Amino acid sequence: MAKRIQFARTGGPEVLETVEVEPAEPKAGEVRVQNHAIGLNFIDIYFRTGLYPAPAMPSGLGTEGAGVVDAVGEGVTHLEKGDRVAYAQGPLGAYSQYHVLPADKVVQLPEDIPFETAAAAMLKGLTTQYLLRQTFPLEGGETILFHAAAGGVGSIACQWAKALGVKVIGTVGSAEKAELAKKNGAWATINYREENVVERVRELTGGAMVPVVYDSVGKDTWTTSLDCLAPRGLMVSFGNASGAVDGVNVGILNQKGSLYLTRPSLNGYADTRERFEEMCLDLFDMLESGKVKVDIAQRFTLDEAGKAQEALASRRTTGSTILIP
Ligand SMILES: NC(=O)c1ccc[n+]([C@@H]2O[C@H](COP(=O)([O-])OP(=O)(O)OC[C@H]3O[C@@H](n4cnc5c(N)ncnc54)[C@H](OP(=O)(O)O)[C@@H]3O)[C@@H](O)[C@H]2O)c1
Repeated sequence: MAKRIQFARTGGPEVLETVEVEPAEPKAGEVRVQNHAIGLNFIDIYFRTGLYPAPAMPSGLGTEGAGVVDAVGEGVTHLEKGDRVAYAQGPLGAYSQYHVLPADKVVQLPEDIPFETAAAAMLKGLTTQYLLRQTFPLEGGETILFHAAAGGVGSIACQWAKALGVKVIGTVGSAEKAELAKKNGAWATINYREENVVERVRELTGGAMVPVVYDSVGKDTWTTSLDCLAPRGLMVSFGNASGAVDGVNVGILNQKGSLYLTRPSLNGYADTRERFEEMCLDLFDMLESGKVKVDIAQRFTLDEAGKAQEALASRRTTGSTILIP
């Protein structure tokens, strides 16, 4: 028997329950991974609360983890029992001791990347990869705005952007978080709970504003983000930590300077095994070279998943959070 976290109705952290289940056998094209570490992500909260509907109820939770392949389904040729692996996509259910998922979503983990690092970096690091290297391919020399710069994705993005020669203006919710973002390579920080973000961006850029804003806060920062863009700039709205952006009149993009808008997701970029593996190579290279160091600032047991989500939702965490099964 093995532990798994599941929920039968949407709601607060109290809907999460620990159950004992017989680990499922992998079907054709699937593998079973014995998790050694599990990544905690904001998207897990969207599923728990119902902002994103789970495909079936009761539902597992979580899409990110690292461990060892423990069983292999028919037709899988690129993975074997005993392989060290990691994953960041696929069916909900990573909050568990064993997780069965499509083999195409699982990548071999280099020997020098520990399981905990992989669980803390796969989803957030691959997201950073597509945001900085694909959605708006940064060349170096740009000044950009990145919200929630001391969070999981933000901490990786500050380091990666710095390595590319990009100046990050990072927004943060406290002085401690500002210090952390600076330590991770942010060029400047703005405490968006206290300062006027648009005015500060104008000052910092000498009036030019920025060519791209990476916004995962959503509802609360939507208008501010558009106002920070230079003409024809790109608004990358990639998350809803404060609530979803809705009811948008596209005319606003014209009024604010012929802006571009995209609402991307990791699944939209790592949509084939080839693309997923290419993105992983880029991420592993950043981790192995030490250009990106993953800060695992919180560790919880699997049973404490609700407590861990509460900490993330209430802005008490920094960097990455993992669950140990
Ligand atoms: N589209 C994609 O492919 C994709 C992939 C991964 C993650 N994401 C998104 O990226 C964001 C970051 O994910 P993460 O897991 O690394 O989380 P995180 O950044 O560690 O945590 C979210 C942070 O958002 C900030 N925030 C601002 N307003 C908030 C509010 N009302 N409630 C809660 N937090 C608020 C907080 O930082 P401050 O205290 O500094 O404000 C908080 O620490 C999430 O929105 C997530 O959905 C998107």
